[in-house]
Amino acid sequence: MVLKEADSTNNYLKELLSNTKPVADGTVIMAESQYAGRGQQQNKWHSAPGMNLTFSLLLRPSFLPLGQQFYLTQAVSIGVVSALRQATSENVQVKWPNDIYFGDKKLGGILIENIVQGSNIKHSIVGIGLNVNQTDFPPEVPNPTSVKQILHSDHDLHQLLSQICAHIEAWYLKLKAGKWDEIRQAYLNNLYWLNQEREFSSDGVDFTGTITGITEHGFLVVRTESEEKEFNLKQIQFLNK
Ligand code: BTN
Repeated sequence: MVLKEADSTNNYLKELLSNTKPVADGTVIMAESQYAGRGQQQNKWHSAPGMNLTFSLLLRPSFLPLGQQFYLTQAVSIGVVSALRQATSENVQVKWPNDIYFGDKKLGGILIENIVQGSNIKHSIVGIGLNVNQTDFPPEVPNPTSVKQILHSDHDLHQLLSQICAHIEAWYLKLKAGKWDEIRQAYLNNLYWLNQEREFSSDGVDFTGTITGITEHGFLVVRTESEEKEFNLKQIQFLNK
């Protein structure tokens, strides 16, 4: 379904789910314009009307135990990255946990909101925002880039949307089939800064470290001179020096 305008496609899908009519697995809601787009960690998601992809996809990974939900993050991230690699022929990567990066710039982001029942995920609302044809961004948007800035040409939004959905579906089916190692490996193969000595900050202290992997539950593993430590999203910042 394509909406001219929504506050946030994630909110729209959530409201649809709270109505009595059932909503089919795989439903995609795209908005040409979002006036209250939400990002991770209570951030806003900025997107110029009509220029980019802002959409949400409904999945029902009821087969996935709550503790393994990071596998869904990985499958969706890899789906988006592989579609964009195909569309741009460029080295698009995933910055842990689920930012879409090209070089040192952010091409898009993913906001997954789970509705939990017992110890399983009843619904996952997978919200994806991708900068496609926008080239001017407000100064408050941190280090953005877009498909147009990579390819120097406009891209058809609907065509890109269907390519991305096809790639996400392929990776989601692998998840359903229990191919967890393949998902984990693909995520690592496309991970920004993997095995590179870089600068990070944690609790206000800068340090040098190397990302060596991701734990089963989605923590980032960073090796420093003295130790190997696991971080959650709030505990570590990447420093681009
Ligand atoms: C992030 O990187 O902070 C995640 C951004 C997610 C943005 C998308 S746009 C479609 C969907 N609706 C929202 O309000 N947010 C997500």
